[in-house]
Amino acid sequence: MPRIAYVNGRYVRHADAAVHILDRGFVFADAVYEVCQVQQGYIVDLSRHLDRLDRSLAEIRIRPPMPRAALIGILRQVLRRNLVTNGLVYLQVTRGVAKRDHVFPSPEVRPTLVVTAKSLAPVVNAARYASGVRAATVADNRWGRVDIKTVGLLPNVLARQQAKEAGAQEAIFVDAEGNVTEGGATNLWIVDRAGTLVTRPADHGILNGITRTTLMDVAAALGLAVEERRFSVAEMLEAREVFVTGATTICLPVVSIDGHTIANGHPGMTAQKIREAFFAVAEKTAI
Ligand code: PDD
Repeated sequence: MPRIAYVNGRYVRHADAAVHILDRGFVFADAVYEVCQVQQGYIVDLSRHLDRLDRSLAEIRIRPPMPRAALIGILRQVLRRNLVTNGLVYLQVTRGVAKRDHVFPSPEVRPTLVVTAKSLAPVVNAARYASGVRAATVADNRWGRVDIKTVGLLPNVLARQQAKEAGAQEAIFVDAEGNVTEGGATNLWIVDRAGTLVTRPADHGILNGITRTTLMDVAAALGLAVEERRFSVAEMLEAREVFVTGATTICLPVVSIDGHTIANGHPGMTAQKIREAFFAVAEKTAI
C-alpha cells in the first residue's frame, strides 16, 4: 500500500507529494507546524495542538487555511489512508507561493497545507523507556521567539547532530546564564532534591509543549508537586531524575548528560508513573 500525503486539497502518493520551489516555507522557513501523537487509534491532545497551531499562525500573521473541523477531517483521512493506529500525524502551514520578496505577498496568497502520517512501532519507544537516553548540552543560540512552532529549526538540527556526534540521543539547550531551556525537540524536566518536578517557565525562551501542558494535569492527578522555575546545568546534573517530553516520546528518561551519570544511571520511577498515567489523562480523539 503506498503512503499517502495531503497537499493543498489533494491526496497524493507520498513519493509524488511536492510543493512549489517558490513556496515561502521552502524559501524563508515562513511556516509553522504541529506533530500529534497517535496511540491505539486515537489522536492525543488534538484540541491543544490545534489551539497552539492557531496561536503560531496568529503570531506570524498567516490566516488559518481552513476551519478547524475541515482540518480535523483531513488529519483523520491521512491517518486512515495510511492505516496508522500508532504513530504520528504531521501538519505544516506555509504563507504560500509568491515571488521571492521578504515582505508578505500582497495581495495575500493561499497558505500551503501539507499533512503526512507515519506508523511508529510502540516497541521502539518501549526499549528507550527501559534504557533511558544520553544527552549532551549545547549553547542555546536560537532566536527570541522559540515559543512559536516554526519550521525554522536549523539550530535544533545542528544541536541534535552535535549531540549525535557526541554519542547522545538528545541535545539540551543551555542559555547564556547557564540555565537549561529545553531539549532539541523536547521540553526538559528534573525531579529536584526535594522531590519536586521542575521545568522552565513557558515564556518566549521555550516551546510550550503540549505534552508539557498535559503532564501538568497528569502530575496534579498523581498528586505530584510541580514548580515552573529556571534551573542550572549543575542542578540538573545533581537531580534525582531528568526526563524529556514531546509528542513523539511522551516522557523519556535521560540517564547521562555530557558523560555524567544522573542518579544511579537508571530510569526513575517518576517518569514511569507519569507515562503510565498519561494516556488516561490526555484528550483522545478517535481516528
Ligand atoms: N517537537 N521543544 C521543542 C523545541 C520541540 O521541537 C518540541 C516538539 C517540544 C515538545 O512539544 P510537544 O510536547 O508539543 O511535542 C518542545 C516535535 C515533536 C518535532 O519537532 O518533531
